[in-house]
Amino acid sequence: METEKIFVKTFGCQMNFYDTEKIYAYVQDRYLPASVPEEADVILLNTCSIREKAEQKVYSLLGRMVPLKERKPGLVIGVGGCVAQQEGETILQRCPMVDIVFGTHNIDEIPDIIQERLRTGRRICRIREDVQRVPGDQAPLSAGPLGPTALVTIIKGCDNWCSYCIVPLVRGREVSRPAARILAEASGLVSKGVREITLLGQNVNSYRDPDTGKGFVDLLSRVNDIEGLERLRFVTSHPKDFSVDLAEAMAGLSKVCEHIHLPVQAGSDRVLAAMKRGYTVSQYLQKVDLLRKRIPEVELSTDLIVGFPGEGREDFEKTLDLLREVRYQNAFSFRYSPRPGTRAALMEDPIGPLLRKSWLPELQQVQNRITSEKHTMMEGKEVEVLVEGSDRKDTGLLEGRTRTNYIVHFPGEKTLAGKTAKVLILRSRTIHLEGKVIT
Ligand code: SAH
Ligand code: SF4
Ligand code: F3S
Repeated sequence: METEKIFVKTFGCQMNFYDTEKIYAYVQDRYLPASVPEEADVILLNTCSIREKAEQKVYSLLGRMVPLKERKPGLVIGVGGCVAQQEGETILQRCPMVDIVFGTHNIDEIPDIIQERLRTGRRICRIREDVQRVPGDQAPLSAGPLGPTALVTIIKGCDNWCSYCIVPLVRGREVSRPAARILAEASGLVSKGVREITLLGQNVNSYRDPDTGKGFVDLLSRVNDIEGLERLRFVTSHPKDFSVDLAEAMAGLSKVCEHIHLPVQAGSDRVLAAMKRGYTVSQYLQKVDLLRKRIPEVELSTDLIVGFPGEGREDFEKTLDLLREVRYQNAFSFRYSPRPGTRAALMEDPIGPLLRKSWLPELQQVQNRITSEKHTMMEGKEVEVLVEGSDRKDTGLLEGRTRTNYIVHFPGEKTLAGKTAKVLILRSRTIHLEGKVIT
């Protein structure tokens, strides 16, 4: 019999991309990965509900799958991830083309759920409530080819309850993975050719090894010791928990890259308090400062929300001031989106989104200028690039990143993938830099 194929479409954050890898690993005995949905016998959507738009995307994509199902009646369509965790049965009621729904803590059950659907013909919704382990923790390593970079989840869930955020509702309470298991997975990946590992969690600073009680800095140094690993990153570090210890570890551990994603969300203390972020702007800036003192070349990126309930023009301008002060390499900025079940969704907002319509593009313009100035400053510099493969538009160039997380394109042999190259930066572009290999 011809081996059947599965296609998993991933939305949202790196946590979901990690879970998708695990889904492929759980089903690898039975299904080969399909390169396009059209050739798959099973299509799963690993969904994100962080903003309303993300959620809508899922429903519109499901609509477009109806013809696929008409052409191939045996096709199994499944919805998992954060929308599934929140909506559950509603998805089955609302979307007749969906066969199975599974929650964020159920990915180990996927092979069984698919089998049950095929055997019984019943539509299935399986959502575990909060569990005391990291989903996918027991999954085997994927048999498929690995790229030079990989993700490893170290902690699931979130206990911070920022007032706008749905993550605690869809990912559950914080649970750390045993360090022994993280190290085994990371070493396994490195022995299969992975050169760079990113440790994942909604707040990696909350990590506590359940076996020894040791924290994130200890874990970071143990992963740093893995022979053959070249680079180590982590995401996300919550600014309220970012510590001197971590800054020192970043400075002292040779593989930890000189880049940190430190989401600030807003530049006004009033808004930060309403968001329940647990820091003020000046506390945030002190942390940036202590980091830059220890690692002068460090680059920062951030996330920002524009139009939080009650945010006024003066608050917004403080965010613009903060951007000019910190000079982030990159900022991911979003219009505030009210999420069901969160506290912010109940807050009064006399100003309303209409009056703030121009704020997001205004903020992006300020940040784009800073990014572009920083890119121009890179011209003429020699950097170390870990080659990840061909660039995404396939212009015949290679693509990689510097340790400080600049994206670099340059001509070269595909055999350089997975290797580090010394590159001279020749030109700066909007999103990336261009250069040529010098050794
Ligand atoms: N754990 C990370 C963020 C995870 S969500 C942290 O605490 O920083 C990724 C980003 O989505 C957030 O940083 C925030 O900027 C954005 N976000 C979350 N909820 C949102 C909402 N309701 N509306 C708009 N943006 C939101
Ligand atoms: Fe959401 Fe806040 Fe947790 Fe980040 S720290 S996932 S923004 S609740
Ligand atoms: Fe989205 Fe869930 Fe991640 S809501 S951002 S996929 S944790």
